[in-house]
Amino acid sequence: MSIFVYPGSFDPVTNGHLDIIDRASKLCDHLIVAVLTNSGKCPVFDREERLSLLQQVMGERENIEIRSFDGLLVHFMEEVGATTIVKGLRAMSDFEYEMQMALINKHLNPAVETLFMMADTQYSFLSSSAVRELARHGGPVEDFVPEGAVEAIRRKFKHKDAGQ
Ligand code: COA
Repeated sequence: MSIFVYPGSFDPVTNGHLDIIDRASKLCDHLIVAVLTNSGKCPVFDREERLSLLQQVMGERENIEIRSFDGLLVHFMEEVGATTIVKGLRAMSDFEYEMQMALINKHLNPAVETLFMMADTQYSFLSSSAVRELARHGGPVEDFVPEGAVEAIRRKFKHKDAGQ
């Protein structure tokens, strides 16, 4: 059975992520969407919120599972018996960083492959930080995130503003 992992911070999930999830799930028997920590980032949504937003927008999908993990991606791959990491490439500017990550992961576990999928052109400019920036200023997040995530994202930034 082929098990692929699509890892990310998902802070928050966007339509660009969903596009990759949909397409990747057709290439394997089982796809695990894994909420991991990028130690270079300080997330706005805590891990539970990111996980539950993903679960909310994905619903029950036959061969898709949402998980979180605290540690190295290759250790998670080993734990779940996965062979392949799926990453989305939006532009050439993503390539250098993604290549470095793929080579580090390969060094850590030579059995693990990284599969790059080109992001759909309509999402090639999209990022979670762009969505956060829009939400912070009351912009139209609904253009960029799944319907089921819109309210929670708006609410998060209302509360953040109120707390400032
Ligand atoms: N559509 C829209 N946006 C996309 C996208 C797509 N198809 N693909 C990526 N993005 C966005 C993401 O939302 C993210 O936006 P942000 O920077 O505004 O948050 C950005 O592109 C970068 O995505 P990515 O490179 O996947 O980074 P990430 O932070 O989401 O995920 C981890 C990185 C968590 C997978 C990585 O840090 C990791 O593996 N951590 C675990 C520790 C580890 O093993 N490290 C590697 C060895 S050192």
